[in-house]
Amino acid sequence: MLDHIREVLFTESEIEEKVKLLGAAISQDYREKELLLVNVLKGGVIFLADLIRQITIPVVIDFMAISSYGPSTEEFGIVRLVKDLEESVSGKDVLVVEDIIDTGLTLTYLLRNLESRDPGSLRVCTLMDKSVRRIVDIPIYYKGFDVPDVFVVGYGLDYEQKYRNLPFIGVLKKEIYYPEE
Ligand code: IMP
Ligand code: MG
Repeated sequence: MLDHIREVLFTESEIEEKVKLLGAAISQDYREKELLLVNVLKGGVIFLADLIRQITIPVVIDFMAISSYGPSTEEFGIVRLVKDLEESVSGKDVLVVEDIIDTGLTLTYLLRNLESRDPGSLRVCTLMDKSVRRIVDIPIYYKGFDVPDVFVVGYGLDYEQKYRNLPFIGVLKKEIYYPEE
């Protein structure tokens, strides 16, 4: 698996440092609040698992799963809710925890959906921001890293469902995407 990686963008310890900072900021900002962390499966689970252990106030976690369609299909930009939350959102201080924001289409759908359930507050925490590819503007309150326009894997993020278990974030070699070249 390691020989498929062209470059490491963020090492295990760089990620750890960043997650600590985010956890401290969230703990400070949400003290005496009713914090509900909403995670988007599956890419965000590793980040969430590490983040909650850096949060020093009580938290409740819940999960949503959505499926989106690629630019090659007619349904580009359409997002479908595959798994809904179990917790009620009404009146809670909701923080959406994402792995990476790319075009922003997925999160736009999700935020609109959550907003309609009347949360007390609604913010976004993302580990990575690939802002050069943004199509719709997303207000990001907590951000880990800015990333350039490259496809990244590891630390929860996949390419064809693989590489999620890499402890760092890296870029795949070109021949992995285009094996015939
Ligand atoms: P968006 O709707 O374009 O913002 O897509 C966001 C989702 O696409 C993320 O939550 C990821 O699951 C996935 N994604 C976007 N960029 C990458 C990447 O570089 N590597 C792996 N997954 C990605
Ligand atoms: Mg995601």
